[in-house]
Amino acid sequence: MDLNIKGRTALITGGSKGLGFASAEAMAREGVKLALAARTEETLRKAAESIGAIPIVSDLSDRAGVLACIDKTRDVIGDPDILVINTGGPQPATFAESTPDGWRTATDQLFHFTIEMITAFLEPMKQKGWGRIVVITSFAAKEPVPNLLYSNALRAGIHGLVNSIASEVAADGVTINAVMPGFIKTDRMTSMGLDLDRVAKTIPAKRLGQPSELGDLVAFLCSERATYINGQAIACDGGLLQGI
Ligand SMILES: NC(=O)c1ccc[n+]([C@@H]2O[C@H](COP(=O)([O-])OP(=O)(O)OC[C@H]3O[C@@H](n4cnc5c(N)ncnc54)[C@H](OP(=O)(O)O)[C@@H]3O)[C@@H](O)[C@H]2O)c1
Repeated sequence: MDLNIKGRTALITGGSKGLGFASAEAMAREGVKLALAARTEETLRKAAESIGAIPIVSDLSDRAGVLACIDKTRDVIGDPDILVINTGGPQPATFAESTPDGWRTATDQLFHFTIEMITAFLEPMKQKGWGRIVVITSFAAKEPVPNLLYSNALRAGIHGLVNSIASEVAADGVTINAVMPGFIKTDRMTSMGLDLDRVAKTIPAKRLGQPSELGDLVAFLCSERATYINGQAIACDGGLLQGI
């Protein structure tokens, strides 16, 4: 299926590895002109070079870094047609372990970052009459994971944000959706110290997902083929979330 996005421009944050890079690879195959943002320069440059994308070295965990990334994006590709909002996950914590500083850090990292990105690039999309935004969240937004309190709470809030914005922009040719990874085999997932064979047995598909399986979904949602899908949170999880 031709996704009909050849020549479109896209910014993918957290784009050097894992789910962000898999989304970038899927869009590069469709002829999208890409900018990728992440912190670690060497990894980012190699990843970008492998798919002909432009690297934007940025730390997106504070406002100054986010604003610098927005400016740099405008310099290298202009206001993007497509925005994929993704970054590293917050620190683990239970409610008993959570602290005011922990909440502030996680909120900056996930929530304020998402709002800054959307604020910067939504209006130009509306003016063009075409735009796609996908926020990579987590199945934890629907099925809280023990010990991942910040993620459980803030991702659910992001879904509320996505939903609300969709109803404001749906008539302007802009879609905004969330994608919820289940257990996908990335560096982050393999470094969390989980017994992944045991985890796989709890998933109806009996295996972890491949990053490309999520990347293909993101590319589809960012395409001309997904014009009537708006304000949704779609899981890519091998059947993990049921009846939610
Ligand atoms: N993999 C899964 O199964 C799964 C499941 C549920 C939710 N998620 C969520 O999906 C997101 C992506 O996960 P992943 O598995 O793809 O992780 P990953 O393999 O660790 O990749 C994370 C990407 O984000 C970048 N990044 C991290 N912190 C950043 C920062 N402060 N500023 C800029 N870039 C930053 C990383 O590059 P640098 O480190 O060089 O900056 C990298 O490019 C995370 O929020 C994670 O919690 C993943």
